[in-house]
Amino acid sequence: MESPKHSQTKTLKKAMRRLPFPVAIATTAIGKKKRGVTIGSFTSVSMQPPLISFNIDKGSQIHDLIYRATHYAIHLPQPDQSSLCDHFAQPGQSSEEQFGNIDHYRSAYGNPILKGIPTVIQCRAYERFAAGDHTLLLGEVLEIEQDSESPSVLYHNRSYHTIGPETTKLKRIDKSA
Ligand SMILES: Cc1cc2nc3c(=O)[nH]c(=O)nc-3n(C[C@H](O)[C@H](O)[C@H](O)COP(=O)(O)O)c2cc1C
Repeated sequence: MESPKHSQTKTLKKAMRRLPFPVAIATTAIGKKKRGVTIGSFTSVSMQPPLISFNIDKGSQIHDLIYRATHYAIHLPQPDQSSLCDHFAQPGQSSEEQFGNIDHYRSAYGNPILKGIPTVIQCRAYERFAAGDHTLLLGEVLEIEQDSESPSVLYHNRSYHTIGPETTKLKRIDKSA
């Protein structure tokens, strides 16, 4: 028989599949060791100071590196770059397999920056919190490259999507009203 905890995990996963969420790629490096990971947990948290957050699986290869790193970069790919999201979500790759064929350079903060991605947010590690089988990372935004107004990649029900003319606006939320 299924334990109540296991069945809750399954129900939570099912409920979360109904939500679209933005897809980002986090990269970091310490010395020559560099790593990237596709994340669906990226969000902004605070404006003063500007803080963002995301969660990293404690069992993932990037975990120990990003936990210790002083800086990291968050990339927001555009819809025609979803293959990069696939690439950095492939488990079990070496650093060479991750970056060998991907055009990138190291920023002044030491972060691997993936060339051609229109929005890149470079952060200083601000705080870390244990969160079950993940670590929740808070980053302070130091620099933003914002080269596009196009929507980002979304993940919904196990597929990549983007926002287009076919989305249905339910109601305009006018904060000035
Ligand atoms: C759309 C999508 C969103 C993901 N979001 C996260 C996330 O927020 N945090 C995380 O730790 N892993 C996330 N993953 C899984 C990692 O990308 C993947 O498990 C990781 O690359 C594991 O490989 P490694 O341990 O060999 O590095 C996501 C995967 C996909 C496809």
